[in-house]
Amino acid sequence: MRAMVIDATGGPEVLVERSIPMVEPAIGEAIVRVAAAGVNPTDAKTRAGRGTSRLIREFPAVLGVDFCGTIVQPAFDAHPFQPGDSVYGMVQVPRLSGSYAEYLTVPVIAIARAPRTLPAAHSAAVPCAALTAWGCINSVGAVAAGQRVLIHAAAGGVGHFAVQFARMAGAHIVATASERNSAWLKELGADEVIDYRTTRFEEETGDIDVVVDLIGNVHDDTGTRSLTVLRPGGLLLSVPTGSWPNYRADAAAAGVRASDIRALSDTATLTAIAELIDDGELRVHVDREFPLAEAAEAHRLLEEGHTRGKLVLTV
Ligand SMILES: NC(=O)c1ccc[n+]([C@@H]2O[C@H](COP(=O)([O-])OP(=O)(O)OC[C@H]3O[C@@H](n4cnc5c(N)ncnc54)[C@H](OP(=O)(O)O)[C@@H]3O)[C@@H](O)[C@H]2O)c1
Repeated sequence: MRAMVIDATGGPEVLVERSIPMVEPAIGEAIVRVAAAGVNPTDAKTRAGRGTSRLIREFPAVLGVDFCGTIVQPAFDAHPFQPGDSVYGMVQVPRLSGSYAEYLTVPVIAIARAPRTLPAAHSAAVPCAALTAWGCINSVGAVAAGQRVLIHAAAGGVGHFAVQFARMAGAHIVATASERNSAWLKELGADEVIDYRTTRFEEETGDIDVVVDLIGNVHDDTGTRSLTVLRPGGLLLSVPTGSWPNYRADAAAAGVRASDIRALSDTATLTAIAELIDDGELRVHVDREFPLAEAAEAHRLLEEGHTRGKLVLTV
């Protein structure tokens, strides 16, 4: 089967097209013919030797955590997801089969029927980012009506879903983004948009119940500065890994709570997300689609850090 693989970690140029052996499913896994794969920052971090690269067991390795495609072999003869069914979901790469490929194997508990109303390339953009946003707003963050939520990098993949889930929860939403994304974020549900390029957010807002921090201390101590806008006992969700090792101690010293969070895929949550999409409640924005062979180009664009919504590879 055709795949984009890496033979070593490094820059985007290490992504090369290759013919590799067909995937073999483990117990409880289905084989999916991939129609499209999402491009996520974790792919680029792992490719670069950061992120989850320490978990790569052998090269060549196939990256790509989320996808939309068609079942070609069910997990069990009579499993509800049968050949020809359109499914979407997320796998824990690099331990499991990657989506930058013609086929992948995936535990059936990590997939669901794809939204009926979206083309495959748009469905593929949903799982990782939307599941992360769902965790931030609906499960770990447990955002309630009337609460004040600050969402950093609101215009990105995770952020644009987080804004919409927070709107559905009835929260007051403060978002950070550059000016060009302000009107669009207000359409999605943001009440206030602070331009991080011109304004210190901590001078504009406060009394926040939950911060969804999608930046961390990679840029201008965004994480540390966020502690000052939380109400006492408020919660900071530190989504990027690694940029702020002391977030727990710093939060405790500031009298607020902090937690890390990881995207986890399950059929029930993906089904709920697909229903919101099909009901017209939730939108996915695809900034740009690339053919699979241009994965390196997609990584270059992603690493510039200004994607609106998502980038996708079509297979
Ligand atoms: N823990 C997990 O399981 C998990 C899951 C998913 C993602 N993540 C992590 O979460 C982070 C966000 O992921 P993502 O997919 O949403 O990223 P993304 O789509 O690449 O984010 C791009 C967005 O970031 C905005 N941005 C850049 N610098 C900013 C700043 N200083 N302040 C505010 N906004 C800024 C840009 O807006 P402008 O163009 O307006 O500047 C752009 O829209 C990444 O670090 C990713 O690795 C973790």
